[in-house]
Amino acid sequence: MRRTLYCGQLREQHAGQRVVLEGWVNRRRDLGGLIFIDLRDREGIVQIIVQPEAPCFAEADRLRSEWVVRVEGVVRRRPAEQVNPRIATGQVEVVAERLEVLAEARTPPFPIDAAWRGEADPEVSEEVRLRHRVVDLRRRRLHRNLRLRHQVVAAIYRFLDAEGFISVETPYLTRSTPEGARDFLVPSRLAPGHFYALPQSPQLFKQMLMVSGYDRYFQIARCFRDEDLRADRQPDFTQLDLEMSFVEQEDILELNERLAAYILRETLGVEIPLPFPRLSYAEAMNRYGSDKPDLRFGLELKDVTELFRGGEFRAFAGAETVKLLVAPALLSRKEIEELEALARSKGAPGLAWARVEKGALTGGIARFIPQGLPERVGAAEGQTLLFVAGPWRRAAEGLGAVRLELGRRLGLVEPGFKFLWVVDFPLLEWDQEAGRWTYMHHPFTSPNLDDLALLETDPGRVRAYAYDLVLNGSEIGGGSIRIHRRELQERIFALLGIGPEEAREKFGFLLEALAYGAPPHGGIAWGLDRFVAHLAGEESIREVIAFPKNKEGKEPLTGAPAPVEEAQLEVLGLALRSEVPRG
Ligand code: AMO
Repeated sequence: MRRTLYCGQLREQHAGQRVVLEGWVNRRRDLGGLIFIDLRDREGIVQIIVQPEAPCFAEADRLRSEWVVRVEGVVRRRPAEQVNPRIATGQVEVVAERLEVLAEARTPPFPIDAAWRGEADPEVSEEVRLRHRVVDLRRRRLHRNLRLRHQVVAAIYRFLDAEGFISVETPYLTRSTPEGARDFLVPSRLAPGHFYALPQSPQLFKQMLMVSGYDRYFQIARCFRDEDLRADRQPDFTQLDLEMSFVEQEDILELNERLAAYILRETLGVEIPLPFPRLSYAEAMNRYGSDKPDLRFGLELKDVTELFRGGEFRAFAGAETVKLLVAPALLSRKEIEELEALARSKGAPGLAWARVEKGALTGGIARFIPQGLPERVGAAEGQTLLFVAGPWRRAAEGLGAVRLELGRRLGLVEPGFKFLWVVDFPLLEWDQEAGRWTYMHHPFTSPNLDDLALLETDPGRVRAYAYDLVLNGSEIGGGSIRIHRRELQERIFALLGIGPEEAREKFGFLLEALAYGAPPHGGIAWGLDRFVAHLAGEESIREVIAFPKNKEGKEPLTGAPAPVEEAQLEVLGLALRSEVPRG
């Protein structure tokens, strides 16, 4: 007996056929002397009927949930009143003739059968789900997500192959590739006291491949970053990494948006309009208070700095920036307090407000609001004005967080996929703690050549050829045109406070590569987990990763990270410090 097709593939057209099915018992019920088995495999479930006179009846009577069985039987149409519209095989059932138990199973730690029947699975805590991930992965939701992820990767290969890209693998045991996070280190046995770093990205290798003339490279690459976890961050995550030679920024954006459109068409059958909107960093911050704006709703911020400038309201008169958001609702004191806490958590000094009620401004800072402001900003009856005054970035980001929260609370977020490019990022940002300039993307990003003259005189105003791909308020990719001339790279290192000695020590190999004749080049990396999570409609990237880490960076299934034997440390020339707790 060999399987003839998947359980989930059975349709009316198979009626009368003899089939062999293999899978898991999704559910077993006894009814009117008959045994009903929902048999499940990755394609779905189908109903099996075992009649009392069948030779396998006794065997079927032993079956429990999640046992693995093989069934041979004949497909028949269900009578009209027994058709189950919730499942794809609901028109048919299989009358069992032979049945073989291939494996018995423990009772699963939580039920997983409901979604396969077209009903809702019960809520189970993530900790329990991750500890029993093997069972959890049997759930329909995860089957669907991992299948979608595969389809996305397959579409990426098809598209990029057709565009002349070749995939190249780059090492996992390597040297530090700075992307702003901490490295994961791997001690070397052969060179005691020396460490590999797991790559934060393939950045330097892909640049060297361009110097070596490969012209168009891509890789589905695992990246490793030791940073605090969130719903959209894992310590090891996957990038679609790509790089192109002899291109300008626009070439890269154009190719990647066609790739996005192709993937959505192929996997979800969704058409998205091209080209994607392009917003400069400054404009994104000014209008949405975010460098990754969610364009599924409007509710733009307004700049009212000038309307308060030099006025009698001291707190606003001298502020660098005063930003305003007009909320299309009369917000309660409590709601405003909650929004204020949110704005403060993003660095805003506070949140001032006033309501438009019965044709007048009331409450909060109503009496300080300059004449004519409500008309100028188009505020209408039943709305609430929300202001943040302060340094530009903190004011914008504080109110940007309020905008997002209001979008959610007021149900303004439209369904769909809103992509955009954020371009013209500043090359550098001031690191208050370190007291020096630091890179915003990574140190290999090219300054906008029009701004070169500002490099030493006004570094904060230098724009980069850097861009982020944003989908529904989430940064799903980022890239840049790279520096391909050694002199400019050294000049940037100097600005970043990386001296010639340190540059040689850390990135000598890259500088040397650039010295051998580098083409102009640039690229991008997509956060594949984030992108797939959006397509799957999932909030957390853990739902599209087969074996993710939990919020503490642990993998409850295997128990990683785990202590190691003293002897293993010894061959590496390592010893734990006495204050480190063991076991
Ligand atoms: P960047 O650091 O922006 O760029 O990373 C690219 C994209 O990877 C995703 N991402 C993550 N996803 C899950 N967990 C994480 N911890 C995590 N960190 C980042 C994000 C991000 O946009 N070498 C450059 C790319 C380039 O310049 O070509 C780089 O790595 O979606």
